[in-house]
Amino acid sequence: MSNIIWHQHVVDKHTRATQKAQKPLVIWFTGLSASGKSTIAGALEHILTQQGYHTYLLDGDNVRHGLCKDLGFSDADRKENIRRVGEVAKLAADAGLITLAAFISPFKADREIVRDILPEGEFIEVFVDASLDVCKQRDPKGLYEKAIRGEIKQFTGIDSPYEVPENPELHIHADFCSVAEAVNQLLSYLNSSGVLKSGYEPVKISA
Ligand code: ADX
Repeated sequence: MSNIIWHQHVVDKHTRATQKAQKPLVIWFTGLSASGKSTIAGALEHILTQQGYHTYLLDGDNVRHGLCKDLGFSDADRKENIRRVGEVAKLAADAGLITLAAFISPFKADREIVRDILPEGEFIEVFVDASLDVCKQRDPKGLYEKAIRGEIKQFTGIDSPYEVPENPELHIHADFCSVAEAVNQLLSYLNSSGVLKSGYEPVKISA
């Protein structure tokens, strides 16, 4: 990049994170539409904030109302969506925040680009794995039905691909587990990897 020189400000990432007494992180949820990404990310964020952590949640549908409202669902637009959101997630981590990102992010290469712009260990890929059949049955927004009828084009899982993560930090079998179980799986991963301060309170799982 010519003629543009990085300005190192006095207050840096370390200062911001130390003030918040936490390790910045990007927790990246990927999976089909209706797999449960946003719900699980929101529930995890809720618990983390209750435990005193400072967080921010970037959500595909919400970001597409503003920052990415000029983008559609072609392969090129999805790539640009993830590039922008990856950069925003990096800025949020630079602000010292535990950042949660819930995006279909169907392409492995685009997810790897986000991993690569973050320091080692700061990107946690969470595969929210629900089968296409289950997602079609859930269909909370009626989008699968529309896509099957041909009213929406380039819909992930119908006429646009989803590349399954090969080596995610965490694999949630969202077909079979409750939101509380998924959150506990996440909390125990974060705890065992030394990211959280001092243990965590497991979420109560109702029968
Ligand atoms: S991504 O592929 O670029 O990562 P993103 O997570 O931002 O997708 O947005 C996905 C959301 O947009 C879905 O949850 C769904 O509600 C909505 N959506 C609308 N059209 C499509 C489409 N063609 N494919 C997938 N999701 C779509």
